[in-house]
Amino acid sequence: MSQDAAIEQHYGRPGLLDRILKSLAKQGVDGNDITIETLAPLDEFHVGGLFATRRIASRLTLMPQDRLVDLGCGTGGPARAIADISGCTVSGVDLTEEFVTTGRALNDITGLAEQVTLTQGSILALPLPDDAFSHAVMLHVGMNVADKHGLMREAFRVLQPGGRFCVYDMMQTSDGDLKFPFPWASDASFSAVARPADYIAAAIDADLALEAQHDESAGAASMLSAMPDSGPANRPDGSADPFHNLAQHIKTGLLAPTEIYFRKPR
Ligand SMILES: C[S@@+](CC[C@H](N)C(=O)[O-])C[C@H]1O[C@@H](n2cnc3c(N)ncnc32)[C@H](O)[C@@H]1O
Repeated sequence: MSQDAAIEQHYGRPGLLDRILKSLAKQGVDGNDITIETLAPLDEFHVGGLFATRRIASRLTLMPQDRLVDLGCGTGGPARAIADISGCTVSGVDLTEEFVTTGRALNDITGLAEQVTLTQGSILALPLPDDAFSHAVMLHVGMNVADKHGLMREAFRVLQPGGRFCVYDMMQTSDGDLKFPFPWASDASFSAVARPADYIAAAIDADLALEAQHDESAGAASMLSAMPDSGPANRPDGSADPFHNLAQHIKTGLLAPTEIYFRKPR
């Protein structure tokens, strides 16, 4: 099986929209009550959820005239939240077809279809023009993408000169073996966890300049334990819980949710 097919098999389960709507209905949420906030536990697939997405939007200081690309957008939770809070337009690209079709339906339901466009594709060959975006984000995707140089080259290509790129990934921050499963991979065969220095080296090779780096470990482990069982990597076979496992790795300092900001020079 190719790497892309393994990733899509890991994340994509048919009937996702139906499961999301049923889960909301169970909580008494339907119609106009389906908002960025009520959806957040179900459509933000990264540590810190909506809180982390809003932190990133704030650090990027986005304006309504900005155009943002979300690399590996999942079902578009972060894309919708950023569009909603900043007024900017967002274009999301994700490998997993089920996420993209679910995300388009959620764009319609939340009234954000004019502002948020989702497309199926690989971030290593973005179906997007050169120099088209003022900002780019990538949230918890690089752990599945071994070719960090390729992803940095694509981010550089689609950004306008002066454009900023925020990477928010789980990164390895001390020596030691990773013990699977994690939410992004049940085993090491399609995991590509790297160190902050690897991302930075790949970005610099792609001519992106480093602006800032933040370790967001504080509070992450407790947020993880609050994540719902209905997440994209939920395992029905009774094996080790990937979220609990990730929390342990963060507590011991082997992994850290890390944000790195880059800029394409003018
Ligand atoms: C943990 S989810 C994060 C989704 C979203 N960024 C969020 O935070 O809600 C990882 C996503 O990366 C996508 N992905 C992994 N490798 C990819 C690739 N090469 N190109 C595009 N998407 C990819 C998966 O399909 C999945 O939706």
